[in-house]
Amino acid sequence: PEKMVWAHNGIGNLGITGTFDRKQLQRGFQVYREVCSACHSINRVAFRDLAALGFSEAEIKAIAVSYDIPSIDDAGEPTTRKGTPADKFPLVYPNEAAARAAQNGAYPPDLSLMTKAREDGTNYVHSLLLGYRDEVPKTLTAPEGLYYNPWFHSAFIAMPPPLAADEQVTYADGTKGTRAQYAADVSTFLTWTAEPKLEARKSTGVAAVIYLLILTALGYLSYKKVWADVK
Ligand code: HEM
Repeated sequence: PEKMVWAHNGIGNLGITGTFDRKQLQRGFQVYREVCSACHSINRVAFRDLAALGFSEAEIKAIAVSYDIPSIDDAGEPTTRKGTPADKFPLVYPNEAAARAAQNGAYPPDLSLMTKAREDGTNYVHSLLLGYRDEVPKTLTAPEGLYYNPWFHSAFIAMPPPLAADEQVTYADGTKGTRAQYAADVSTFLTWTAEPKLEARKSTGVAAVIYLLILTALGYLSYKKVWADVK
């Protein structure tokens, strides 16, 4: 996939340092909510996890109650109740069979861990979203009902192009809505869902390396001192 520069890849886009851009995560969540959530769940994420994106407790409560969570009523019958911050984002379909029945036989996977499940996942999701092409190469024949997208493993994907036009989503923060912006923002958001502790992992790693370097220097200096008299 195309190598993009991501804030969470830090200095030199090397991936050693880096922090998420909170505003971008919020925009990515908006794209997920308004577009992707029609078909894909993020069932590993709890509403209260959104605090890490900078949402307030009241905002999180409002998001949670807008979702119906499967539940059981007093008579033991399945029902739904309003979401609370402790709930996870619900599944879109109760199970895979129901999803395939509604999606022409295709299965829209849960996106929580997608950027980890695919190699170079953030760039992959970004390229996939922008990678639909109208012209199918002459050597290939498009199967009925599938879309040509060279980034997908089989080149033909059942997902209709989800980011079809600029201004499809009106950003709450006033950022101009373009397909490129939506793709970058939602890919960043899905990187966070897959690795919410990315920032802590990186800062701990950098601190550990600095600590080990100092320890090595001290070790070397004491070695010099201890053996100074031995010729
Ligand atoms: C598959 C992302 C919106 C239906 C996928 C995959 C990703 C993805 C990463 C998996 C590709 C793979 O397996 O490597 C997104 C994102 C969306 C979005 C980020 C929003 C911007 C939608 C919508 C629908 C949909 C709105 C339904 C209309 C599907 C289906 C598949 C799929 C059916 C399975 C494709 C196949 O196996 O051929 N999507 N999607 N997606 N998506 Fe989406």
